[in-house]
Amino acid sequence: MNKQTVKDIDVTGRRVLVRVDFNVPLDINTGAILNDTRIRASAPTINYLVERKARVILCSHLGQPKQGFEKGLTLAPLAKRLAEIIHRPVGFVEDCVGSKVKAAVAALKEGDIVLLENLRFHPEEEKNDPSFSKALAGLADIYVNDAFSTSHRAHASMVGVTAYLPAVAGLLMERELATMGKALNQPIRPLAMVMGGAKVSDKIGLLENALGKVDILLIGGGIASTFLKARGTEVGSSLVETDKLEVARGIMERAKKNSVRLVLPTDVVTAEKIAAGGKTRVVSVNDVPSGWQIADVGPKTLDNFARELHKAKTVIWNGPMGVYEIAQFAGGTKAIARLLGSLDAITIVGGGSTADIVEELGLVNRMTHVSMGGGASLAFLEGKTLVGVTPLLEK
Ligand code: 3PG
Repeated sequence: MNKQTVKDIDVTGRRVLVRVDFNVPLDINTGAILNDTRIRASAPTINYLVERKARVILCSHLGQPKQGFEKGLTLAPLAKRLAEIIHRPVGFVEDCVGSKVKAAVAALKEGDIVLLENLRFHPEEEKNDPSFSKALAGLADIYVNDAFSTSHRAHASMVGVTAYLPAVAGLLMERELATMGKALNQPIRPLAMVMGGAKVSDKIGLLENALGKVDILLIGGGIASTFLKARGTEVGSSLVETDKLEVARGIMERAKKNSVRLVLPTDVVTAEKIAAGGKTRVVSVNDVPSGWQIADVGPKTLDNFARELHKAKTVIWNGPMGVYEIAQFAGGTKAIARLLGSLDAITIVGGGSTADIVEELGLVNRMTHVSMGGGASLAFLEGKTLVGVTPLLEK
């Protein structure tokens, strides 16, 4: 990784503003934290700073507040959860800029930690407003960005603030960039990508970038229907993006030209209706009953995918293989997760729903890396420059 990290600077006694991503799912009725993975993932950087006697000022967004303060989106409970995770006291201030915050920061002793209130309670955050950025920066001597999963957002706490402070990456940010960057740009080959998800239109950037890099491309999920249709296979009433048929054909042609082994499903789980408890049938892709829809990949497809993946030394996975929210159609996605967990290869799981599935199945520790980012990891795997990463100091 070519960016400086917390390890490249002296933080002792300094006030360090750390941008974390504590945008975690909450129960809308009780406010309970439903998944604290992102909070746990921030611990290495926070512990590193505390152990070196920095004064740690944490800031994050949570959700998408409409206008100012929203009780359900306060970060106060997250301060408590973080304290439990790192076994250290974590203070909380009811704003992220202004006199109260300045006073709280001035009172910090070496090794103390404070979490500021939700940045998005100020609309200036999302506008990357310079005076808001300056106010945030005014709290600290050094800025650390450990919020890889927000790096695709050009917001004040991600971008604007870097104009006023030396800006380096946190340890989580470093891990995300280094692991995914290596897998994509200097992989141990063969490199395979397993791609799923609902819509081709969401994955065009990823497909285009993958074609220049991967050796094997396995396509499942909703996007497979558009590819099957594009090569002339009838897919019943499956959702096909007719305006993307040409794109799909172009991708298949480029794969051939680049000697990328592109593998589509050969059999599928079909359903009369995409709903729990309805009739289903496993059929060859050539026999999808008229009026039925493809809801998951079938067992022969999984065998084919497994054969390909056993050849790979690096595997990147992005997107479920079927309508995994419905148990009947989650089999393909679960099988791929378990298979990846058993491979003797570098396995990278793109964030978002794919990461949630791996976590639900308790397979996180079986993977080389599970990204915290949904939109950010997709943008990174598409080969896009992440606006939050660019301004960090070069090594
Ligand atoms: C995420 O959850 O993907 C990040 O925290 C960014 O959140 P946002 O989509 O609300 O900007």
